Amino acid sequence: MKNMIFIGAQGAGKGTYADVIKAKFDIPHISTGDMFREAIKDETPLGVEAKKHIDGGNLVPDELTIKLVEERLSRDDCKEGFILDGFPRTLPQAQALDKITEITQVVFLEVTEDVIMQRLGGRIQCRKCSKIFHKTNMPPKVEGVCDVCGGELYTRDDDRPEAIKKRLAIFQEQTAPLMDFYEKKGVVVHVDSNDPIPSEVVKDIMKKIE
Ligand code: AP5
Ligand code: MG
Repeated sequence: MKNMIFIGAQGAGKGTYADVIKAKFDIPHISTGDMFREAIKDETPLGVEAKKHIDGGNLVPDELTIKLVEERLSRDDCKEGFILDGFPRTLPQAQALDKITEITQVVFLEVTEDVIMQRLGGRIQCRKCSKIFHKTNMPPKVEGVCDVCGGELYTRDDDRPEAIKKRLAIFQEQTAPLMDFYEKKGVVVHVDSNDPIPSEVVKDIMKKIE
């Protein structure tokens, strides 16, 4: 069973690496950020509520987020495992997750602030399938068009400098302390995510989780 969590600051590469590693184990990649953005696009009640928090770089309230993840993890495709990306990011979320299921590995992606700023400054993402690109680090074959599904590539609303600053501060305050929670369980592996070649980071993650 591979019940994994990828934790790391904004721009650490959680989404980029999870997208590759999910295929290696044939398990789903569950990104709460992508789920919220999908709900915002569809203008569902959850999306309307989430947008108020996300655009300014704030967290969506725990209660809503926990409910969303609990429902997602109860589906059949999670039986052999999953990669949680962006959840948990507060202590109440980690405690709630503990009651839902057992976590077998936590991959902590470590990245420096200058690398974060470079990555978020150039990130573009597909509106349709959520595939992640970067204007210079990982450009699409055709500018503005997704290589996978042909969808439109856009810059996230929370990738503005003020929102990035807020998100990084919240990460330090609320999410970084979770490492203690998981270190005590003995399930954490540390990965240096500063390497400019994503496939090298993926190799390192694989070596540590296999
Ligand atoms: P979320 O979507 O999870 O955003 P995040 O945590 O801020 O993380 P990012 O998606 O910004 O970074 P990433 O680590 O996935 O990096 P990526 O792979 O894209 O959450 C968004 C918002 O939703 C939150 O702020 C909050 O409001 C809400 N939310 C979500 N979950 C929540 C929760 N549990 N509770 C409450 N609220 C919640 O990579 C970044 C860029 O770098 C890309 O362009 C990529 O191409 C490039 N790149 C990646 N790796 C490399 C490399 N090795 N070399 C060169 N370039 C690279
Ligand atoms: Mg992401």
